Amino acid sequence: MKEKTFKKIVIAGAGLMGASIAQIFPQYGYETTIYSNREQDFQRAKEIIANCQNTLIENNIIADKLSQEVQKSIIYTTDLETAFKEADLIIEAIPEVFEIKVDFFRKISDIIPEDSIVATNTSAISINDLAENISNPQRFCGTHWLNPPHIIPLVEIVKSNNTAELVVDSLLTLMKSINKKPVVLKKDIKGFLSNRLQFALLREAAYLVENDVATPEDIDNTLKYGNGIRYACSGPFKIVDLGGIEVFNNVAKYLFPVLSKETEVCKLLNEMAEKDYNGISNGQGFYQYTEESALKEEEQRDKKMIKILEF
Ligand SMILES: NC(=O)c1ccc[n+]([C@@H]2O[C@H](COP(=O)([O-])OP(=O)(O)OC[C@H]3O[C@@H](n4cnc5c(N)ncnc54)[C@H](O)[C@@H]3O)[C@@H](O)[C@H]2O)c1
Repeated sequence: MKEKTFKKIVIAGAGLMGASIAQIFPQYGYETTIYSNREQDFQRAKEIIANCQNTLIENNIIADKLSQEVQKSIIYTTDLETAFKEADLIIEAIPEVFEIKVDFFRKISDIIPEDSIVATNTSAISINDLAENISNPQRFCGTHWLNPPHIIPLVEIVKSNNTAELVVDSLLTLMKSINKKPVVLKKDIKGFLSNRLQFALLREAAYLVENDVATPEDIDNTLKYGNGIRYACSGPFKIVDLGGIEVFNNVAKYLFPVLSKETEVCKLLNEMAEKDYNGISNGQGFYQYTEESALKEEEQRDKKMIKILEF
């Protein structure tokens, strides 16, 4: 059996992730469709794509002409048959609600070609549980992209217990063909790799604020100007190698027993959620934002990320 080659790629979901993922594929010659059940979402998707593309143009990542072609080439449809009947790959990026995803997979099961591959961008739902709801579950796999996916190279490829190896190999080849850096998880686990690592850090950061050791700003600065720079160049294991196994082993003996072992969601986050604070989308979070400064925040983040990726 040969690896699958992809021509037609359909992104299901016209939200933040769907729109941002969709703009990547046409750059590399893949015919790309965005499907949503709501026509009204397409205007926002086009705006998201235009904004992302402008940052890429300004930073010389894509030529203006190619960017216009990319944007014009994306097909938008609310029609299930039109979207899925010839799809080689479906990347699902619809809301993180199990029932909505299950309903969607059941609906497309009878429409998609027998040999198409179906991937989900779920952040936290079990790949095994979702796989039960698609025809030919061996074709089903997780592909977890990080926001902003048009800039961040990582894609986590997460197998279910039934995913065929050929599906994983085909996705690996595809991701490399669009300049991504895929990693394969040997098994399905809640939070995959990136969210488990991210939330382990967030738990400790919240513990330090709640115990009045430092402010959120100083913790952000510790990562931005310290550990984050090392992490951008080496992972936690390479950092140990560079620092020396013995020293890390000794420090771990003192630190592991005193790190946060909290199993409830931290108070800090819970209280903000209860007050409907939602970060840049409504201006209230660990920091405060105006509409203008919120926009700048995303722009600045994208520019800094592009700079980091250049070296
Ligand atoms: N936002 C992030 O940072 C992020 C990062 C990684 C993974 N994810 C995951 O990606 C997925 C999408 O997240 P998002 O932030 O883009 O969500 P979003 O709410 O911005 O977009 C979801 C889109 O799905 C479509 N949709 C809604 N209901 C639907 C239905 N019943 N059938 C078909 N389409 C429907 C709509 O076009 C909507 O815009 C989620 O599973 C989320 O957990 C999000």
